[in-house]
Amino acid sequence: MTTSEAPARIAVTGLAVMGSNLARNLARHGYRVAVHNRSSARTKALIEEHGHEGDFVPAETLEELVASLQTPRQIIIMVKAGAPTDAVIDELVPLLEPGDMVIDGGNAHYADTRRREAALREAGLHFVGAGISGGEEGALNGPSIMPGGSKESYQHLGPVLESIAAQVDGVPCCVHVGPDGAGHFVKMVHNGIEYADMQLIAEAYDLLNRVGGMTPTQIAEVFRGWNSGDLESYLVEITAEVLGHFDPETGVPLVDVIADEAEQKGTGRWTVQEALELGVPVTGIAEAVFARSLSGRVEQRKAAREAFGSPEVLASERIADQLVEDVRQALYASKVVAYAQGFDQMRAASAEYGWDLDLGAMATIWRGGCIIRARFLDRIREAYDKDPNLASLLVDEYFRDAVRDAEAAWRRVVVGAVEAGVPVPGFVSALAYYDALRSERLPASLVQGLRDFFGAHTYRRTDREGSFHTLWSGDRSQVDA
Ligand SMILES: NC(=O)c1ccc[n+]([C@@H]2O[C@H](COP(=O)([O-])OP(=O)(O)OC[C@H]3O[C@@H](n4cnc5c(N)ncnc54)[C@H](OP(=O)(O)O)[C@@H]3O)[C@@H](O)[C@H]2O)c1
Repeated sequence: MTTSEAPARIAVTGLAVMGSNLARNLARHGYRVAVHNRSSARTKALIEEHGHEGDFVPAETLEELVASLQTPRQIIIMVKAGAPTDAVIDELVPLLEPGDMVIDGGNAHYADTRRREAALREAGLHFVGAGISGGEEGALNGPSIMPGGSKESYQHLGPVLESIAAQVDGVPCCVHVGPDGAGHFVKMVHNGIEYADMQLIAEAYDLLNRVGGMTPTQIAEVFRGWNSGDLESYLVEITAEVLGHFDPETGVPLVDVIADEAEQKGTGRWTVQEALELGVPVTGIAEAVFARSLSGRVEQRKAAREAFGSPEVLASERIADQLVEDVRQALYASKVVAYAQGFDQMRAASAEYGWDLDLGAMATIWRGGCIIRARFLDRIREAYDKDPNLASLLVDEYFRDAVRDAEAAWRRVVVGAVEAGVPVPGFVSALAYYDALRSERLPASLVQGLRDFFGAHTYRRTDREGSFHTLWSGDRSQVDA
């Protein structure tokens, strides 16, 4: 901390773990950072513990914080998402001048961000909803940052955010995503994909454990090996760490003593809700969200176990080698599907809200700092570089070949899991999605027939234009609708 009277470059209000780490990241990059928290104890703690790391300007009140900044002001809000964010904005806005920028780095719902952006624009202010991924570690050492808001605000803010973001091959994991709520939408889909990715990894572990008869320690080794191939990613890397860890108290693998009830904070659910609104099938994310919900229904699970008994899986070491390779391929192919669906959702939202999202750039900024960082994302960027209007990631030449190559193994895994009674909703739904997309004819034709029968909802024909209705309760002739 210095005593100079120079104005601060940027401010952070909300100094819980994310805000204080982001402020430290900014200070370590040489920015003079004004810091504030509703209760001043957190501000004092930050200065006491980390004041020596850079140039901080502590403020007791928001008035002081605003007064300490150079103009146009840039104030990052890092408080609890929802009503607390609105409370801070309401207190802040009367203190600001046209051209100032309010950045919400919390996990806001993108619809809230759209509302806030519109309201602040009326007041001549810029509101930037910035998705920040990477948890507390990322906030401190370089997160993936997904800022929305106006292009003009990014001209001021971009260089600062890019400098504190994770860097991969010299490229910052931060780009102007698009107007208003685009940044928070993309962050939401990132989290949704994270749900799908984790579910698929968990299914792979379950199969190797229950069908392959492998111990968590052996499976940790498998994941360690996978992390040097196409599956290389942060999640695969930490899967090896978690599976390889022993509980110091009992001496058994930790994963065996962790309660099997997965919790959720809600961003996966948001992703699925928004996908339903947009009509985009994100089956991988939906299955992942539902799998977590199911795991938490302890009473129902107990009742079902009592009624049916648990599936008896006869592990066979003999098949383990083949199984490991098959599961690797099933995991990879299912992962391609999950990402293809997530990117479809971003494309649909971009069209709906006029965001003009650069999908390749989204893959670029997820390569570092965030939870789904992976080698794989380079391939996605290349796919969109080649064809920004790709109908689906699945049809890009690289992914098409990868999925085709994996198909036989993928089917063996799904069939084997179904026969053994090991639930693999992620693998199954990904395969069903792949088969549905490439089917010449879908039974949606029958669905349309049924809808026309009971509700006169009409149907279109394959052989000529127009809408038709069959007089089902009359002479069953066809009429133009
Ligand atoms: N934790 C993560 O890994 C992570 C990752 C990405 C994004 N995020 C998002 O980043 C934001 C901050 O997360 P966090 O975990 O650091 O903190 P948090 O636990 O979500 O929120 C605590 C902070 O919010 C402040 N706050 C709460 N209600 C307030 C109000 N009505 N007015 C003013 N301030 C209020 C608290 O101030 P007091 O100290 O005075 O109570 C404290 O600074 C959240 O939106 C979170 O979703 C978190």
